Amino acid sequence: MSAQRQDAVRRVTVPEVAARKGGEPLVCLTAYTAPMAEILDPHCDVLLVGDSVGMVVHGLPNTVGVTLEMMILHGQAVMRTAKRALVVIDMPFGSYEAGPQAAFENAARVLKETGAQAIKVESGPTIAETIRYLVERGVPVMGHVGLRPQAVNVDGAFKAKGRTEDERTRVLAEAEAAADAGAFSIVVEGVAESLAREVTAAVDIPTIGIGASAGCDGQILVTDDMLGMFDWTPKFVRRYADLRGDIGQAVGRWAADVRARRFPAEAETYFARKAVEG
Ligand code: KIV
Repeated sequence: MSAQRQDAVRRVTVPEVAARKGGEPLVCLTAYTAPMAEILDPHCDVLLVGDSVGMVVHGLPNTVGVTLEMMILHGQAVMRTAKRALVVIDMPFGSYEAGPQAAFENAARVLKETGAQAIKVESGPTIAETIRYLVERGVPVMGHVGLRPQAVNVDGAFKAKGRTEDERTRVLAEAEAAADAGAFSIVVEGVAESLAREVTAAVDIPTIGIGASAGCDGQILVTDDMLGMFDWTPKFVRRYADLRGDIGQAVGRWAADVRARRFPAEAETYFARKAVEG
């Protein structure tokens, strides 16, 4: 008898995501914690445990300080509750650039210790060889071109890409190289619509846009951005909630109730059982 357990909910697979090229748009969001992954899971094709966790959850100024251990810990949390979506884990800065073998060792650790199905790397000019090496050894890879947050110290800031002809050529070449090397999909971040459409037409794998127009095969946002957790929203984000405002109001009401001794009331209080008379 097979030792494999049949889960009631079937998970989206890497080939299914790859097959969505030009089809129904891929719906993707970031997730870092178990409760949020549980809420997002029924709605999403892909949950990305992005290294944006460093900024969103840990208050870092950028993603450079994120470690492999952080990614594994958040990946494990997401995998405990995400049952349907494909879970992709970002490889943090410094964990894959030294060469294909180091990248494989770290990527294998991520897949083994989290149970996630794929990893993502920011696809700079030298990374195609590493993507091929990983894919040939059983590690599904999502690429990431355009604005590459891990290159912030080279770029000097988070800057949209593709404004010059030279940049456009570079982004297109990086996307084509990632696709040729076997990536199953590619995040396109912070580029003008014309370049997003050019990249999408040039590669035979789905492009997943963030700040990259409707010209991509799917969309991803940082969940906390679209839920309004921050007081600043980038141009490319549409806010679907005001959780920052809602949380502030709720906590303010609770604090006022505590100060006025309205909380806890009887309904929120345990009482000792009355002694049974015998
Ligand atoms: O880390 C992240 O959240 C990402 C998304 C912006 C795509 O890479």
